[in-house]
Amino acid sequence: MGMNYQTGFGNEFATEAVAGALPVGRNSPQKAPLGLYAEQLSGTAFTVPRSGNKRTWTYRIRPSVIHKPFVPFAPAGKPAGELFRSSPFDEVITAPNQLRWNPLPVPEEPTDFVEGITTIAGNGDLYSQAGIAVHIYRCNRGMGNRYFYNADGEMLIVPELGRIGILTELGAIQIGPGEVAVIPRGVRFKVELADGQARGYICENYGAQFRLPDLGPIGANGLANPRDFETPVAWYEDKDEPCEIVQKFGGNLWSCETDHSPLDVVAWHGNYAPYRYDLRRFNTIGSISFDHPDPSIFTVLTSPSGEAGVANCDFVIFPDRWLVGEDTFRPPWYHRNTMSEYMGLIYGQYDAKEEGFVPGGGSLHNQMSAHGPDLEAFEKASNAELKPQKLAGTMAFMFESRYIIRPTRFAMECPELQPDYYAVWQGLKKNFSGK
Ligand SMILES: [Fe+2]
Repeated sequence: MGMNYQTGFGNEFATEAVAGALPVGRNSPQKAPLGLYAEQLSGTAFTVPRSGNKRTWTYRIRPSVIHKPFVPFAPAGKPAGELFRSSPFDEVITAPNQLRWNPLPVPEEPTDFVEGITTIAGNGDLYSQAGIAVHIYRCNRGMGNRYFYNADGEMLIVPELGRIGILTELGAIQIGPGEVAVIPRGVRFKVELADGQARGYICENYGAQFRLPDLGPIGANGLANPRDFETPVAWYEDKDEPCEIVQKFGGNLWSCETDHSPLDVVAWHGNYAPYRYDLRRFNTIGSISFDHPDPSIFTVLTSPSGEAGVANCDFVIFPDRWLVGEDTFRPPWYHRNTMSEYMGLIYGQYDAKEEGFVPGGGSLHNQMSAHGPDLEAFEKASNAELKPQKLAGTMAFMFESRYIIRPTRFAMECPELQPDYYAVWQGLKKNFSGK
């Protein structure tokens, strides 16, 4: 299997796994080369302005339409989509409390990527293409002849444990902790495991597709640079065996049978394609005088909501960086935010919470919920000698959304929820003396 990549963000790529498979000069010739079928995958409405228009032409062994009817998905022994939830997130009343979770265990029974998706929270309305869902995936076997696609949104996959191979109809991607991949809405794929088990986070984005943020006065370079995004070259399976296609559509999981692998695209060209990005290539920018900028300076990708500067979702990271601010409290300060923040940790330690927030776990600070450094982090940072300091070996991230992020029933009832999270701030003392 080829794991070769083409670089650039949202470029017009052209790739063929067999020489001559890609027609030249036209998209749908009377007969496509090599006996292939031409099929367009539209990622935006036909009439979206050219700068944002997304579509890909595939040249495949069979058209995607050959499959049996979809029926509700019910993996063996489990009710359909047992823990994979979707909007509307109204299973339980959303409380304004700060929430934090320990990592969910990797299951012991055989579980593949789709079976192991557990929804923590979400917001918006997928029928209106607004909002996100936050999932944890945890699995211990590959998908074999099961394939998946998500008609409800794109999926930003953030591994925390184990490398995974994401075999898509447009090529194969491998990622591990510290890297992320985005699988566009509708693209068929399966996940295989390189290390026997895997766990990580998923942001399912019902809204506008993730894109690079504008840079404003930062200039032409910085943050995530376009050349570091990698899209796979064409790769295909020519497999005539019973296969299952699972899709998420309208908030539910569906399954159908087909007699061949849907990953049968021999050549493609276009700008609607999966990609991966190594978060360690992020050009982190910060203060070289005093104070620190808002965390928006760490935005890797943004899904705009239609109102300028107000994101449906920002994907923000907290990578290795130097702290050099003079007369500055260096961890993130106390704050209350009109945006809602789900955070996870990929590896290392987060500087505002050195305990209790661990890799694979998560925290949720919703709209206007107060949060900030715990007692220990406050005391330490207030009294630290302000030498230049390198935060090394750390990678936290945030899914930040304009909409309240509403936990699922599972997330509110699981034993991994930390009931005493509020206590980390209770020892903060009154230091005011009045003079
Ligand atoms: Fe925050």
